[in-house]
Parts: sequence; structure tokens; C-alpha cells
Amino acid sequence: MEALIQKAMKQVNQKLSQHEKRLKHVYGVAQTAVSLANFYDVDSNKMMLAGLYHDFSKYDDINVELLSDNEKEIVKDYPVMFHAYQAAYLITRNLDISDLDIINPIKCHVWGKPNMSIYEKILFVSDYCEPNRSFLDIKEIFELAKNDLNAAVLKCMTISIKDLETRGILPSKYQLEAYDYYKEVSLWKKN
Ligand SMILES: [Fe+2]
Ligand SMILES: [Fe+2]
Repeated sequence: MEALIQKAMKQVNQKLSQHEKRLKHVYGVAQTAVSLANFYDVDSNKMMLAGLYHDFSKYDDINVELLSDNEKEIVKDYPVMFHAYQAAYLITRNLDISDLDIINPIKCHVWGKPNMSIYEKILFVSDYCEPNRSFLDIKEIFELAKNDLNAAVLKCMTISIKDLETRGILPSKYQLEAYDYYKEVSLWKKN
């Protein structure tokens, strides 16, 4: 696993060499995801790899050739999703990884989805509360992630949807579906 991580770092460093801020973000996400994985006693190496690779394709030109039909359909309406699907594909191809605990969190890191696995939730939340994010209360989200991971997921989804609204962008039905799911989860807990 150590060799695989070294290889991933090399690839990411090279790929994002012109994007210093993004590279910092990627390492911040990986580091945050590793601490949460350790906290929840799940495989931190998997989170390291997913964190390093999640924005691998952020600056690639959109070319949906390698995506599934369903992914192509979504990217047509929401180009932002391309980078997540493409990175998931490329980690499989470049590092011969087939572990869904690594691939699926990368795929759903933008919107989240209903009923996420622990790995999906950790990467999703880490993308918001890594130390280089300056516009959010990162500490509060990170602490919440340790107290109640579902509540942290909901908080990040709320931030994302509000941000879209202030920019006059309508969230996708998939994003709203994920948000509604975690809103429900938080209601069950209260009752
Ligand atoms: Fe991303
Ligand atoms: Fe990111």
C-alpha cells in the first residue's frame, strides 16, 4: 500500500504542478480524511488514496469517452461532475485500483448521495473542512464530523446548496435527493 501511495503522490504532483492551490487542497483533503479514518477506525490508506486523487481531473478538458452512459448523461447537464467521474476512472487505470471504498467516494464527492458508506462520508466532509479552506468554519465541521458524521455531511450539503442559491444556480435533483436523505436522518435522530 505504501508503494501505491507514493506512486499516487507522484502522479498527482505532476498532474497538478501548475495548480499550486489545488495541490495544497488535495493534500489537505487527504490528510483530513486520514485523521477521520483513524478516528473511525477504518482503513486510512484507502482515504489517503481517495483524497489524493479526488480532484485529479479538475483541469482536464471534458471528454466523456471513458465514462459510463449514465455518467455521460449527468455530465451533459452538470459539467462539474466530469472531474469526479474521470478521476475515479483514472485511479483505476493509472494505479490498477478496483476497490470501491476508494473509487466510490471519488465519484460522489461533489454532491454526496443518499446512504453513503463511511468512506464516502469521510471524503465528502474532508473536501469541505481541510485546513486550506478559508471561507468556512472548518474547525467546527471537523469537530462535528467526529461527533456526528451524518450531521457533518448535512452541514456540508447545506453550505453547498446555499452557495449555489446565492449564485443563482439551481441544485441538481441528485444533490437535493442526497440533501433530503441526510435531513431525514437528522430528524430520526431527534425523535
Ligand atoms: Fe472536486
Ligand atoms: Fe476537492
